[in-house]
Amino acid sequence: MDAELNMKYAHIVGWGSFWPDKILTNDDIANIVDTSDDWIFARTGIRERRIAGEGETTATLAFEAAARALVVAGLHPSQLDMIIVATSTPEYIFPSTASRVQDYLGAARAGAFDLSAACSGFVYALNMAAQAIATGSIRNAVVIGSETMSRVLDWEDRGTCILFGDGAGAVVLRGSSIPGGVMASELRSDGSGGDLLRLPAVYHNPVPALGPEYLGNGHKHNTIAMDGRQVFRFATRVLYQSILNVLKKADLNIDDVALFVPHQANVRIIQHVAKKLKVPMEKFYLNVERAGNTSAASIPMALCDAIEDGRLRPDDNVVFIGFGGGLTWAASVVKWDVTPPEVTRLDREWKRTRYIVARGRSKVRRWGRRMEAYLTGSPTPDARLRDAEKEKKLPPS
Ligand code: COA
Repeated sequence: MDAELNMKYAHIVGWGSFWPDKILTNDDIANIVDTSDDWIFARTGIRERRIAGEGETTATLAFEAAARALVVAGLHPSQLDMIIVATSTPEYIFPSTASRVQDYLGAARAGAFDLSAACSGFVYALNMAAQAIATGSIRNAVVIGSETMSRVLDWEDRGTCILFGDGAGAVVLRGSSIPGGVMASELRSDGSGGDLLRLPAVYHNPVPALGPEYLGNGHKHNTIAMDGRQVFRFATRVLYQSILNVLKKADLNIDDVALFVPHQANVRIIQHVAKKLKVPMEKFYLNVERAGNTSAASIPMALCDAIEDGRLRPDDNVVFIGFGGGLTWAASVVKWDVTPPEVTRLDREWKRTRYIVARGRSKVRRWGRRMEAYLTGSPTPDARLRDAEKEKKLPPS
């Protein structure tokens, strides 16, 4: 077969993560709600988490992680065919976070979409991109998990606000004729447990003329609600079975796995699963102590830390396992086959100049649209939105 047509193995060839600067410790949270560092650490293994700062959004975090992953992969953004952002905290339902990242990167040939599967989202997205590569429909993809969880937390609810943090992680997948890469996946959902962990997405615009039952969606406005005990029980049950299932699909045994990179929600959940599998805890990579639960971003962020810690070698089998709202859960087995390249600071900085060019190009396009509107005598999109707001057709943005 033509080598070009046989690039069906989706290898991870680049990775990158982005941690916002601002650190929020358990002691800081104890100043907000009735809790303590001891309680949080004992129940979850979390000591601190990052909080996105002014000007940082789910899209900018995702862009930073993707840009770093592209440097490692040695790929130009114009070589990307697909950008998937797994997130539960997009700034917009549309445009998607992925489309904004596509614009920031200047990835002119890439399709882009967001994927919603809560904390399992990264593993789902990895599988979608790997399948697209396997069928030959694309060659290169960037898969990102990015979240600004701090903006959807109820900071009066000590059952949830202690758990989550912000951040982003990304991997670049590249089609190759060499066997390896993403070898098997299992994606699952049980929607009957949807109410156990939920984040209402759309604030229902009141329609007063239709009566009180049309006045809202009955939820506290756009914050996470969770039944912690039930979620804990669900996670320990499904993770164990999912790991066994995906290994069976890849024709591997538990002893063939060099490293498990689980969703970083809670150390006690991982301890439970490790014990059930009779696998030493050292085989589970953990950074939840410093990151908190960053939802869809947690697995790629942990993967980047594991690589930096020298925990992955060529030919290692690594298992990713996610679980979360939906309920959803997912596992993937990846044959690791890349030796981390040396990336110099100069290289990184030089490559960043291309994003300045991309920003310029995007601005020129926007100006072009405005100019066209001016020349044809039609109002610009901005002016149309302003007029609609004035006429109260839209809520103020
Ligand atoms: N600080 C201090 N006390 C707290 C507290 C906090 N942040 N949150 C709850 N408590 C109290 C409760 O009020 C309760 O007190 P009571 O016994 O006097 O009524 C007690 O601690 C036990 O509460 P409970 O909710 O049963 O605690 P728990 O042992 O189940 O721990 C979680 C709570 C959230 C840490 C735990 O359920 C958990 O981690 N679940 C999984 C959540 C998760 O991972 N979600 C994301 C999945 S992607």
